[in-house]
Amino acid sequence: MAHRGSFGSKIGVVLAAAGSAVGLGNVWRFPTEVGNNGGAAFILIYLACVLFIGIPVMVSEFVIGRSTHANTIGAFRKLAPKTWWRIGGIEGVFVAFFIFCYYIIVSGWTLHYTVASFANHLTADQDYKVYFQDFVTSPWEPVVYAVVFMLMVHVIIVRGVQNGIERCSKLMMPMLLLIIAVLVICSFSMSGFTEGMSFMLRPDFSKVTTTVVLSAVGQAFYSLSLAMGCLCTYASYFGPDTNLTKTAMSVSLIDTCVAVLCGFIIFPAVFSVPGVEPGEGPGLVFITLPHVFNIAFHNVPLIGYVFSGLFYLLLLLSALTSAISLHEPVTAYLHEEWHLSRHRAACLVTLGCILLGVACSLSMGVWNDFRIFGLCLFDLFDFVSAKIILPLGGIIICLFVGWKLDRQLVYDEVTNRGALRIRFFRLYLFLVRWVAPIAIALIFINELLNS
Ligand code: PFF
Repeated sequence: MAHRGSFGSKIGVVLAAAGSAVGLGNVWRFPTEVGNNGGAAFILIYLACVLFIGIPVMVSEFVIGRSTHANTIGAFRKLAPKTWWRIGGIEGVFVAFFIFCYYIIVSGWTLHYTVASFANHLTADQDYKVYFQDFVTSPWEPVVYAVVFMLMVHVIIVRGVQNGIERCSKLMMPMLLLIIAVLVICSFSMSGFTEGMSFMLRPDFSKVTTTVVLSAVGQAFYSLSLAMGCLCTYASYFGPDTNLTKTAMSVSLIDTCVAVLCGFIIFPAVFSVPGVEPGEGPGLVFITLPHVFNIAFHNVPLIGYVFSGLFYLLLLLSALTSAISLHEPVTAYLHEEWHLSRHRAACLVTLGCILLGVACSLSMGVWNDFRIFGLCLFDLFDFVSAKIILPLGGIIICLFVGWKLDRQLVYDEVTNRGALRIRFFRLYLFLVRWVAPIAIALIFINELLNS
């Protein structure tokens, strides 16, 4: 049996799991969803989703990981040997791998924009749409940045759980929070502050439809990194005294606060420039914002330079802490199940991801004509992993912990063998048995019908 690492401190546990959760989804996706779906009305629905679905599913993943101290596939096998429940573990490892392959491409873009921003390339008078298109369709530039990014992740992973993941989370998460604080303070002084805030915070319940509610559930899943084997693997490194419920609540709180604060940064900037559309999705970060930073600070270019540089650094750090949590489930699996050394396992994952990642990146440029079901490779990976496998994995986790696992085992894990007084255990079980799987099944059907 391979020697297993473990987290060394409670704060390390929370920061590592929060590092996984806080990612690109918080910085651009959450504010865009809020802007398009009724402002504060969406925020309220999102909070309910986090509370009643996100936290129970996260606790369930923690239960699976901590009770077995094994990689995700090993964990399901230990808890339900020789049954089809094993699919839950296989799904976790596979989905992490496939999401990782294209996550590193977008992360490479954030690295490029951070470098370009500090090198002052984004302040020149240029068409940012053309700039972005030229960059992503280039056969080598995004690949180089993705490979450099991947090597950064690799170096952290090979150092192990405590010296790699925990240490870098303890360093990067406070940096990330500090950058957010600086950017929020800067945004107070922007001319579009009041308008931006009211756009984001004015509740417009007329926009709330079933689709909006379902997209809030989907956003909660994505943002909290649920059903990807990441949190389950991290939980396998938790100590016996880690309070699972409290950790899930702290991670969800940090993740939600970061998402809301990113809205406080983006909307005042967007509303400081006339004629710019706020609800633009991915293009917002790489096309609209460089333009906005340029115009909004044209009187004080130095502040614009610092603001833009810090903003892309924030994106980069959030991508990095999330990316390591996508690498780890696959590395842990190869290390423990294939009996490779951790170093070899990590090398194999890194190489595999680089190969598939390069194919994904080229599929946006020179290989764009190669399509499967009408989708280029990048979109295919995104669609199959995020829209199909992920919700199915979520349902399996809920049904597994809610119905299959021995209730006493779940109780023991949640209460640390009776040492903690947990008042909401029955409510937790009800949410995991009924509310969460039904809600996820509805998103799944909705996504399929809309695609
Ligand atoms: N939770 C991350 C975000 O909000 O961007 C995305 C993510 C990270 C998804 C890690 C999956 C994962 F395993």
